[in-house]
This record gives sequence, structure tokens and C-alpha cells, in this order.
Amino acid sequence: MPLPATYGYSPHPVPLPATPLVYSRPAPIIARYVMSVLVIVGALWGDEAKGKLVDVLAGDADLNVRYCGGHNAGHTVAADGKTFKFHLIPSGILHENCTAVISGGMVVCPKTLLDELDNLHANAKTTGRLRISKSAHVLFPYHRLLDRLEEEYRGARRVGTTSRGVGPAYQDKVARFGIRMAEFVDPERFPERLRIALAMKNRTIQLYGEEPLEYEPLLDEYQEYAERVRPFVGEVEREVNEAVRAGKRILFEGAQGTMLDLDHGTYPFVTSTYPTAGGACLGTGLAPGQIDNVLGVCGAYATRVGSGPFPSELCGSLADRIREEGREFGTTTGRPRRCGWLDLVAVRHASRISGFTSLAVTRLDVLSGFDQVGLCAAYDIEGTRVDWVPTDMAELEKAEPLWETMPGWSGDLSLCRKEDELPAQATEFLRRIEAFTETPISIVSVGARREETIILRPDLLW
Ligand code: GDP
Ligand code: IMO
Ligand code: MG
Repeated sequence: MPLPATYGYSPHPVPLPATPLVYSRPAPIIARYVMSVLVIVGALWGDEAKGKLVDVLAGDADLNVRYCGGHNAGHTVAADGKTFKFHLIPSGILHENCTAVISGGMVVCPKTLLDELDNLHANAKTTGRLRISKSAHVLFPYHRLLDRLEEEYRGARRVGTTSRGVGPAYQDKVARFGIRMAEFVDPERFPERLRIALAMKNRTIQLYGEEPLEYEPLLDEYQEYAERVRPFVGEVEREVNEAVRAGKRILFEGAQGTMLDLDHGTYPFVTSTYPTAGGACLGTGLAPGQIDNVLGVCGAYATRVGSGPFPSELCGSLADRIREEGREFGTTTGRPRRCGWLDLVAVRHASRISGFTSLAVTRLDVLSGFDQVGLCAAYDIEGTRVDWVPTDMAELEKAEPLWETMPGWSGDLSLCRKEDELPAQATEFLRRIEAFTETPISIVSVGARREETIILRPDLLW
């Protein structure tokens, strides 16, 4: 059939151009033949050992980009005979080949950042490969103060935050009162930006009945920090984008975990940002289609710090035993972590939201010596069997775990370096996790140290 002479539904039809339009997709600017973008996501309530896995994988990475959160995170790395605790700097900084990037999705406490840099120098590590986005937000003492005041105000329904001020810093970002890195390190703009922000925050602080913070000492202190931070600050989003287009290997490092995600976690008992894989795009300017693989990380059992529902939580001697064996005390606050059996329903929820292409199961060694190990395979909510994570926290708070039990195993798993060296019961346990969550396991961690790692499926990583 011949084309009509005009097209469109306008009452004043547009004449067709003389040259026919050619609808074709532009040719891709670069062709990437290798899998090169891997996002690491916590599957549950944080502390799944993301830091250890980043360290293991960063040996093969050109860039390690942290995409969310602030110094509420605590990532422990046991490498080269030392233990490093990172709150802001991506764990890949330990590898000379790897540029560590603090992205625009993060909020940065300059004092913590400088302490971390000093600690790395004290351990003979070089830090010149650190890059900080101009759009990362800066965290100030008034955020920390407001975190405490808000928690006190919430009373019994307090979130149990890490009290670092991370939530209030993100509130300022969303409210468009935040101070970004670009302004912080600009001696011309910073004094005025701080003066306005502090005046605004002091109003709220006084509403809580507290003394306002003083401008001059705060400005002096933070101007000194800005001098030291400035050399690291740059056009990071463009650099990351170019690295992706050049096919460089990039490891995106999540903080916290899926069940703490602002939208997909146990709201309001969550953090103020997006630990899920989508957060890697929001925080860094990475396009969704550029993600090749997503590695979800969960422990062989579950932990949570702070308040909020935790359906598979254990209490009494069983929980104490896991806490002692796994040394489950917060990296950031030192709080004892709540412990429970692994919640398969929550891990599957996480896998679906972030599109896990594989799972890393950590701390398998900790469960050695139990006669039986448990897995939460569904919730009983007022007599109804539910095998998904309800969106309404009032429902999740009523959830009772429906357990599957499996035979336990014994022996020192930290010595295992191949899957066939694991006890058969441990392998069965892993197969059950894979089947339920519909996600293959690519890595098993059997100890805190870098070498205590079994890589089962390298093909699912890069
Ligand atoms: P992250 O926040 O996800 O990086 O995790 P954390 O570092 O806060 O907590 C994980 C803890 O478990 C740290 O103390 C690690 O050193 C430790 N760890 C990591 N992997 C293993 C493992 O496979 N076995 C044992 N026993 N400990 C591990
Ligand atoms: P990593 O990266 C575990 C928890 C807090 C609290 C809630 C809100 O080490 O896994 P916030 O200070 O963010 O406003 O607190 O989130 N939380 C974490 N729990 N690991 C973390 O980070 C966490 N970051 C925040 O305990 O329940
Ligand atoms: Mg942690």
C-alpha cells in the first residue's frame, strides 16, 4: 500500500519530508566483548561480608566504585596479615591495580574519610588512586546531632540507626539544602553555603530544645578538611562512564543490604538510600543496560543490627552460639548483631529485585558443629502461609518463620579451597539455597581471610 502523503493525527497534518525517514538504531559506539561490569549487593540487612568479597574480586578490577550510603557502613577486610575496616573508602583501595571511587550517591563525613586515609598510610598503603565525585554530599556535625534527636523523638519506634547522621544528610540532599563536594572544596563558595545551611539546621535543632551550633569553629574545622580532600575530587561520573565504554573491569560496591533499602526493605526500619542494584545506576550514572552481572551476598545465616522485623531471628542459646562463633558485633558501632537462620524468602526477594546473576554465600564455616541447620522457607502470618516478603511492615512484624531443617556438618571449613573438599551436608545446604532462590552460587566464603574463599563459577562474575 502506498504511504499517505501526510502522517500524524494533528488537524493540521505535517507534510512528509522529501527524503524518507530512516528509522534505525545508531550503531553502538563501542562493542564490549567481555563481561566487565559487576555489581555487588547485600541480600539481607547488611554485614553479609561484601567488603571481603570486594577485596577478593578487586584484584582483577580496574575500578571499584561504591555507590550508596556513608560511614554507617563498616566493611571488614582481612588481607596481607592485617584487618582493615572501611566505612567510606571502597575496599578495592588495597589493590594497586584498582582505582577506588566514592560516587555521587554517597554522603561523606570528611573527618572519617581522612582518618581512613591516615590509617591506610600508617599501614604503608598508597591512596593516590582514590577519586571522589563532585556530587557526593558532605556530612556535617549537625546531621549527627539531628540523627540523635530524631531517634530520641521516635522513642520506642526508633530505627536503631548507626547515629552517624547519614539519614539527616540524605534528607538535606532530597530537600535540596545539601552541600556537595564541588562546593565544599571551593574556598569561594563554601563559607556562604555553610552559613545558610547551618542557619537553617539550627532552627530545627532549637525546635528540639538544643543549643544551636556555632558557625566560625565549624567553618574553620571543615575548611581544613576541604584542603586535604580537594585533590581527590573530580568529574568522577564521566571517568566511570568512559571506563565502562572502554570495557574496563568495574566492580560496583553496595553498602547495607536489600532489606535496608528505602523502598524495598522493611520500611521505616531501613537506611536512607538504595543498596539494591538499581542504586548502582542512581548513585553513579551507570546505565542499567551496562550492568553485566549482579552478585548478591548473603551469609549462611542471617544477622541484623538495629530495630525492625526479622522473621527468622533466633533467641536464647542458639542465637548466642552463632553470635559467638561468627563474632557478630557491628563493625561500625560494636553493637551485638541479632542472629537467625538464613531467610530464603528474603534472599529470593532480593534476588528478584536486583536480578542476582549469582550468589555468594559467606560464613559457611561458622555453622560447622551444629547437629542441624535451619532455613526459613515461608512465613506464617495469622495462619496463612506466605512465601514472599509483604510490603506492609504490620504484616511482616506478625510473620512467624516456617523452618526447613537440614543435617549439619562438622570440621574446619576454613581449610577448604574447592567445593569437593566441603562436607557433603554443607554442599546439600548450598544446593537448597540455590534451588529455593533460583540463583546459582558462584562463591562460597569459609573464613574472613582473602584466601578462605572458594570460587565455584568464575564465568558468572566477569
Ligand atoms: P560487610 O558490611 O557486608 O562488608 O560485612 P562486615 O565486614 O560488616 O561483616 C562481616 C564480618 O564477617 C567481618 O568481620 C568479616 O571479617 C567476617 N567474615 C567475612 N567472611 C567470612 C567468612 O566466610 N567466615 C567468617 N567466619 N567470617 C567472615
Ligand atoms: P554495611 O555496609 C548493617 C542499619 C542500622 C539501622 C538502619 C538505619 O556494613 O552492611 P542508618 O544509620 O543507616 O540511618 O541506620 O540501617 N545499617 C546497617 N546495618 N550494616 C550496615 O552497613 C548498615 N548501615 C546501616 O543499624 O538499623
Ligand atoms: Mg558491615
